[in-house]
Amino acid sequence: MMRTDTPHTTTYLKDYTPYPFELLGVQLNFDIHDGYTIVESTIDFKRIEHTADHLYLNGEDLDLIALKINGKDWDRYEQTPQGVTIDFGNLDQFTLSIITKIVPEKNTYLEGLYKSGDTYCTQCEAEGFRRITYFPDRPDVLTTYTVRIEADKSLYPVLLSNGNKTESSECGNNRHCTIWHDPHPKPCYLFALVAGNLTHIHDTFTTMSGRNVDLYIYVRPGDEGQCDHAMRSLKNAMRWDEEVYGLEYDLDLFNIVAVSDFNMGAMENKSLNIFNTALVLAAQETATDLDFQRVESVIAHEYFHNWSGNRVTCRDWFQLSLKEGLTVFRDQEFSADMNSAAVQRIDDVIHLRRHQFPEDASPLAHPVRPDNYIEINNFYTMTVYEKGAELIRMTRNILGPELYRKATDLYFTRHDGQAVTCDDWIACMEETSGYDLSQFKLWYAQAGTPEVEYKGNYDEKTKEYTVHLTQNIKDTPGQKNKAPMHIPISFCLLGRNGKELIPSTVLDLKEREQSFTFCDIPEHPTPSILRGFSAPVKLNTDLSEEDLSFLMVHDTDGFNRWESGQNFMIKTIKSMAKTGSKSPSEEFLHAYEKTLSSLFDKDTDMALLARALTIPDISTIAQHFEVIDPDMLHAARHNMLTAIKRNFKPILIKAYKAMHPGGKDFEITSEAMGRRALNNTLLSIITCTGGTGCAGLAKDHYDNANTMTDRLAALSALSHMDQPQRKDVIDDFYTQFENYPLVIDKWFAVQAASSRQNTVSELLELAKHAAFNNKNPNRARALYAGFAMNNPLRFHSNSGAGYEFLTEAIIELNTINPQIAARLLTPMREWRRYTPDRQEKMQACLNRILACPDLSPNVYEIVSKSLHAA
Ligand code: BES
Ligand code: ZN
Repeated sequence: MMRTDTPHTTTYLKDYTPYPFELLGVQLNFDIHDGYTIVESTIDFKRIEHTADHLYLNGEDLDLIALKINGKDWDRYEQTPQGVTIDFGNLDQFTLSIITKIVPEKNTYLEGLYKSGDTYCTQCEAEGFRRITYFPDRPDVLTTYTVRIEADKSLYPVLLSNGNKTESSECGNNRHCTIWHDPHPKPCYLFALVAGNLTHIHDTFTTMSGRNVDLYIYVRPGDEGQCDHAMRSLKNAMRWDEEVYGLEYDLDLFNIVAVSDFNMGAMENKSLNIFNTALVLAAQETATDLDFQRVESVIAHEYFHNWSGNRVTCRDWFQLSLKEGLTVFRDQEFSADMNSAAVQRIDDVIHLRRHQFPEDASPLAHPVRPDNYIEINNFYTMTVYEKGAELIRMTRNILGPELYRKATDLYFTRHDGQAVTCDDWIACMEETSGYDLSQFKLWYAQAGTPEVEYKGNYDEKTKEYTVHLTQNIKDTPGQKNKAPMHIPISFCLLGRNGKELIPSTVLDLKEREQSFTFCDIPEHPTPSILRGFSAPVKLNTDLSEEDLSFLMVHDTDGFNRWESGQNFMIKTIKSMAKTGSKSPSEEFLHAYEKTLSSLFDKDTDMALLARALTIPDISTIAQHFEVIDPDMLHAARHNMLTAIKRNFKPILIKAYKAMHPGGKDFEITSEAMGRRALNNTLLSIITCTGGTGCAGLAKDHYDNANTMTDRLAALSALSHMDQPQRKDVIDDFYTQFENYPLVIDKWFAVQAASSRQNTVSELLELAKHAAFNNKNPNRARALYAGFAMNNPLRFHSNSGAGYEFLTEAIIELNTINPQIAARLLTPMREWRRYTPDRQEKMQACLNRILACPDLSPNVYEIVSKSLHAA
């Protein structure tokens, strides 16, 4: 059923009012039958705002069967498609019971109670609970839940909900039931239910105070062999949160369930996390190293929400970054501790630049704390998550680790059991440290990526070095002439041999223009600026190519060594694109060769080197251009790759062979993953020209692969080529992994990212493949997002065929799954950044979508704001 009967209304932060009732407890009874489920809800209300004379409950697509107050049939209520308003007879305390009927089998939105394969499961964040029963569906209404689930015993032997299982019994007719009680008050978005035929693995964890916790991971029978990595990650996360934040788990049971139909990655429901199978299952044969790392970080992320999100939750959805930004920061730091810190930081910054920076420069730019939305699901954004995490990182860097920890201790004790705001978080930081963070708080309110201009000057006579910094934030929709922000810039001066001439320090840039002077600098230094990417800004410097090659080798900050190399590459590609030159400068090639040769040094970090040798992708390069022409950028990037191959073929091949795993045992240590990353980076460079030799090498790589990492790297290299091996390998891959849906997703995604000329027509065929199914988000994303997000060359092809392909998909998905449809619009939001012919075609597509009848609020919001942002 579409939500067309209502205009798309905007919700504003300024309109927040507290809920006038307190909930003293809720009991839910789920009676699950084939084709329908009966939900009975009993809520004890207490009026706390005495002027309140009616009770409003949200509810969507519900069939209301009965409504009672204090056990009496009640007809004093009014229904709308959004909810029900009840005249509760001015009672100060009363019990409301409501019976509704829902049809999980027909729920393709995957919000509320739905079926994934043969398993019933729920997704309630942000506003899915209102699709289960009438309820005050807002995060500041907390209460305790008792849940009874009844279903067929053979079909659904496993019945789960939040908290502790207090009872389980037979109910005749081959039916059984369980009762669950969660003692921790929670908002309804953290409610969860699962009913299915699942197997599990089990382990235990002893908390720092000695509590024994049972850990279960539930999966489809047959998948239990792929859960060990997830379980290990969970235990590491539990230990890490105790050690780093002093936070302990608070129940005797922790369940994870993996389902194959899920809009997002995973969900932190209290003690019953529900995961996309893609973020639980991991085995050597079927998962890449990247998948293993993703599983580790997402398991940790959802576990960390137990405190940052569940025990302390959000007052309203505008505060989303309070839990998501903080929890992303926590999972980034966890991953940095589990793996290599420098590599983790590099990958996080690549991700931020590639996805958040463009968002912040688009018509959908919004602050980390937005102040209005039409559809909240559209605000689970890179800005709220990734920029939000950067804000937490900056606060920690401003406070230092000790004060930061004191402040988080205060936050988690003071606000335990409460629904709070980003201001409450900052208040804890300020009170603990005594610092004034009022200017810093602008980061929550002002959208757009600040641009920082750096100039350095050394005076031989006075031995003084002066730093000149300026900051500027472009106008964004609804925000003009923004105030200067507090930008912490981590900084050092390096001597000729890379010696630090001053201790690494933080420059607090607070004015529009500001200078800092350093005395007694004995020699002409090279500055290392924005170390570890200390603030999410765009930095422009006056550094020369010579400075950059020096920093690539000598910077004492690992992140900045990598960053200097990337800056050098971008500088070079820019000039190649401008002049049309096919070869990079001698200086560039020299610097690249030096990096490459370090592979044969003893202590080289292979994972780091793999990143250092990788040329930024087209989307990242594009951000350095006023007008984006993907054909031109692809050509420049390709010319650079080809020049590297031509100049260094022997050493590239030697390095490739040195990194080749051979018959080594499979390990997922940083070391082993680093070698594979480097080996595969080299493979992609060596095979960039796509000739017969390239195809032969890639085919050998495929045939010898003993991990999915290597197999996929070979498949991906071949996917771009016009060589006979391509089809052989694509077919072989499909046959081998036909029964592994997550691997078949990769198969679709690799083909979607192919740079070949006829990709769109091949994808039109693939969309008709028997294994394609756009009701499954993973599959739909593999094909459509795999194309629109990872194939800028063909997506933006002059013909407009790429835009048309995506547009058709969005229109179809709009009625099936509006959340997914809206997300697929991401690359279209930036239409104004492209060449005029492309702008025109994208704009036409957006207008075509806007003209569709039955447009979901999700799609409507993104399309209308993309087209009409002021
Ligand atoms: N709370 C979210 C899941 C969510 C997001 C539910 C949007 C409903 C709407 C969860 O904690 C989350 O953030 N998941 C991420 C992965 C995480 C590692 C960033 C996801 O699902 O992508
Ligand atoms: Zn989260």
